[in-house]
Amino acid sequence: MKYKSAPFRFTVSSTRLSVLFAAMVVASRLHAQPAASSSAPAFVPGEVWRDTAGQVINAHGGGILFHAGVYYWYGEFKEGRTYLAKPNKAWGGTRVIAGGVSCYSSTNLYDWRNEGLALPSVAEDPDHDLACENVIERPKVIYNARTTKFVMWLHQDSPDYAAARSGVAVSDSPAGPFKYLGSFRPNAGVWPINVTDKDQEPVATNVLARDFQGGQMARDMTLFVDDDGKAYQFYASENNTTMHVSLLTDDYLKPAGKYARIFIGREMEAPAVFKHGGKYYLIGSACTGWEPNAARLAVADNIFGPWTELGNPCQGNDADKTYFCQSAFVLPVAGQSGRSVALLDRWKKWDLADSRYVWLPLEFSTDGKPTLRWHDRWSLPKN
Ligand code: GAL
Repeated sequence: MKYKSAPFRFTVSSTRLSVLFAAMVVASRLHAQPAASSSAPAFVPGEVWRDTAGQVINAHGGGILFHAGVYYWYGEFKEGRTYLAKPNKAWGGTRVIAGGVSCYSSTNLYDWRNEGLALPSVAEDPDHDLACENVIERPKVIYNARTTKFVMWLHQDSPDYAAARSGVAVSDSPAGPFKYLGSFRPNAGVWPINVTDKDQEPVATNVLARDFQGGQMARDMTLFVDDDGKAYQFYASENNTTMHVSLLTDDYLKPAGKYARIFIGREMEAPAVFKHGGKYYLIGSACTGWEPNAARLAVADNIFGPWTELGNPCQGNDADKTYFCQSAFVLPVAGQSGRSVALLDRWKKWDLADSRYVWLPLEFSTDGKPTLRWHDRWSLPKN
C-alpha cells in the first residue's frame, strides 16, 4: 500500500515538539492496526501483480474459467528476451520464445496461486505445433458438462504468423495437464451462413474463397459458452480483415460447420465476448500489433449477427488508446449478477515479459451501454 504525503513546514518549541511526537507515536500505533480499508484486497491496474508465492503473475492475453467455486486464469507464459524476428520486421511483431499456457487459481480474484503450466511449449521438437519458436497466443478454456472435459483453444502460429491456425487441447482437470490434440484452420469446405455470390468468386484478393478448401485463417480468438451450453469460437480471419463466429461441436473440440462473417473489412481483433440483458456484446481492438488503439464495442441480438458497433466503450483520459491496453476477456463475477470485470493487456512491445494486466470494472451507463473507466485502485463490492 502506498501513501501520498504532502510536504509541510512548522515552527514549535521543544516541549511542544515532544508532545507532538508522543501524539504521533500514539497515532502511528493506532494506524498499525490493519484498518479495514487499507487491508481490503484491491485490483491495482498496471502495477506488477504477484501470485501467492510472491512471483510475478505470468498469464498474458488470457481468459478465466469459473469452475466449482474456483477461478482459473489461463494465459500466455512470456519469459526471456524480446526480439524482432526477420519476417515480422515490416509490421513490428516483436516476440519472446513461446513458453506455453500458464494456469493460476483463485477463489476471490485478487489472490492467485500458480498451478504451473497447463500446456507447456515443446522445446525438443522444432516441428511440433507448440515448439518454442512458434506462436502460442490467447488461450481460452471452457468446461464441457456433457463430456466433463476441460477444453482449451488457442491461436497457434508459425514464427511469421502465416500459419494462422487454431490449436485444441483437453484435460480431465482444470489445471491440467492438457493433452494437445493438434491444430487446424477452421471451417474447411464450408461457406459461412451469410455468404454472398461475390464472396465465392475465385479472385486473387478473395481470401475467404482462397481458403475455402484448406480452412479459414484464425489468429486472435476467444471462446464463448451461451446459456444453452452451445459454444462458439470468435477468430480474426481473412488475414485479420474480417472476424468469424463459429459454432463448436457438442464436445467443443471442433467447428460444427456453421459460421458467419462479422465486422467485414473492419480489421477487428482481440475479441472479448459476453452476454448482458439477453444481448451479446463484443469488445475488440483495431489491428495494430502491440501498439494500443481505441477499443471497439459491438452488440447483437443473435450471436451470428448482425452486430452493431457502438463505438469506444472507454471513457476519460487515454480512452482513445484504451489506457494503453488491448482487450483480452470479460469475466462475469460469480454470484454478482450483472457485474463483470474487463481484462486488458498492457503490452510492452520491447519487453513483452514485463507486460502488465489492467483489470477494470465493466459498468453500464444509464442507457445500458457497457462502459470502461480508469481506476488507480478498486475492489468488487462485497456480496
Ligand atoms: C496483436 C494481437 C496479439 C499478438 C500481437 C503480435 O495484434 O492482438 O495477440 O498477436 O499482435 O504482434
